[in-house]
Amino acid sequence: MSDQVTAIVLAAGAGTRMRSRTAKVLHPIGGRSMIAHALLAVQQTGAGTVVAVVGHQRDQVSAEISAIDPSVVHAVQEEQRGTGHAVQVALDALGAVPTGTVLITYGDVPLLTGDTLSTLLREHRDAGRAVSVLTYRPLDPAGYGRIVRAEDGSVLAIREHRDASADELAITEVNSGILAVDAGFLDRAVRSLDAGNTQGEYYLTDIVGRAVQDGLPVGAHVLEDLWQTEGVNDRHQLARLGRALNDRLTRHWMDEGVTIVDPATTWIDSAVQLGQDVTLLPGTQLLGATVVADGATIGPDTTLRDVEVGPDAEVVRTHGSNAVIGAGTTVGPFAYLRPGTVTGTGAKIGTFVETKNTRLGDGAKAPHLSYLGDADIGEGTNIGAGTITANYDGVAKHRTSIGRHARTGSDNVFVAPVSIGDGAYTAAGTTVRDDVPPGALAVGGDRQRTMEGWVEARRPGSASAEAARRAQESTGE
Ligand code: UD1
Ligand code: CA
Repeated sequence: MSDQVTAIVLAAGAGTRMRSRTAKVLHPIGGRSMIAHALLAVQQTGAGTVVAVVGHQRDQVSAEISAIDPSVVHAVQEEQRGTGHAVQVALDALGAVPTGTVLITYGDVPLLTGDTLSTLLREHRDAGRAVSVLTYRPLDPAGYGRIVRAEDGSVLAIREHRDASADELAITEVNSGILAVDAGFLDRAVRSLDAGNTQGEYYLTDIVGRAVQDGLPVGAHVLEDLWQTEGVNDRHQLARLGRALNDRLTRHWMDEGVTIVDPATTWIDSAVQLGQDVTLLPGTQLLGATVVADGATIGPDTTLRDVEVGPDAEVVRTHGSNAVIGAGTTVGPFAYLRPGTVTGTGAKIGTFVETKNTRLGDGAKAPHLSYLGDADIGEGTNIGAGTITANYDGVAKHRTSIGRHARTGSDNVFVAPVSIGDGAYTAAGTTVRDDVPPGALAVGGDRQRTMEGWVEARRPGSASAEAARRAQESTGE
């Protein structure tokens, strides 16, 4: 038997119980669609050709499949006439009958691992079988196809729940639907299926009985991990499997040396990468392609999507996306890092600071209450509290450039485009409209005017006037 593997992924079903405008297999778990999980598991087996059977909402589904793996063959099943018919459609899309083994999986079984599929394929080949079924024993076997075995334990058939006798319904071992099948046998068997059952469908599962009739070897691999074969039909299952996947991922990262104070409130997407001695505090969500380097601390209550966090950085109560946080940089509490935020080493983005398309050099600090958009801030520069870069003139965005080791005052507005030189200072309350050369001090705004006795003259008898009178008495004025 050849080592070649062709994989068929069934994803034509309607997913009615999801009650969604989005196709069922496109719903995400762990930050990627269910169909993406299914395709990645299949890819890990080294399958040469992958065929996806699409039907309902096929434009959406096909677009996602092509984005994940452009080499996947798309087979359109116009009408869902059963799993056997779906496989027939897949084989037709290939043109020629494949050689070797065909692996059959599903787009809505997201926790199945590539390792499990590889084990099934290995057993299938080593035992020289025509059909190998992946089976398991769920807590409640209702609804599933039952694995009918002979006295000696050999597999005889798969009986669908609705076609099963009372004795067969008592069987607790069920069909996961996942199969490894000799390609030549499969091609013959699916073409000879009939729909003479209670559902009037072409059952793929009937190929097991057919192989037994033909005297071909059939076997089963019983899986202990019940999550792996669980499919998603509704949003309850989606949430349960999402939780199960997250448990898997948090356990994995703890094994790798990450401290997770509260795994129940920590969510980590599948593609996230974490270094050693990372600490994740409660309420942390690490999403997309986020990468956290060794020794960094994230949380509590922080969401990062596609963010790169450098070693030993600290990110507290922060929401960030598409940002790069340098080594040893501190962020938050209550910071909002928008796309294009990049910091150097040992920088600081402090409390109630929003950044967008902004670079902070090594050791640069923006500690308090600021909006920094479209800005370049040089190394060692300190941004005063309450600074706004006025980057938008109502039509276009402009950049603010602030040099190295500058000291900008509290409550500055930088009206972009504007540039502040290295080592320059700006005074508190300045609206900076003109460029400031290196080493200069820019002071803006009107001089303060103080009108003595104004309150007594204009607000006589008020609490303020009374307070002022007492203050003047006590200082003897
Ligand atoms: C199927 C199995 C059953 C097994 C169960 C595990 C058959 C006849 N029965 O039952 O033994 O215990 O899965 O969940 O195979 N699909 C298509 N085109 C079709 C029909 C189905 O692509 O024409 C896809 C669906 O999108 C779905 C999967 O195949 O992802 C399973 O189909 P479904 O009709 O739900 O089969 P079950 O009745 O659950
Ligand atoms: Ca099903």
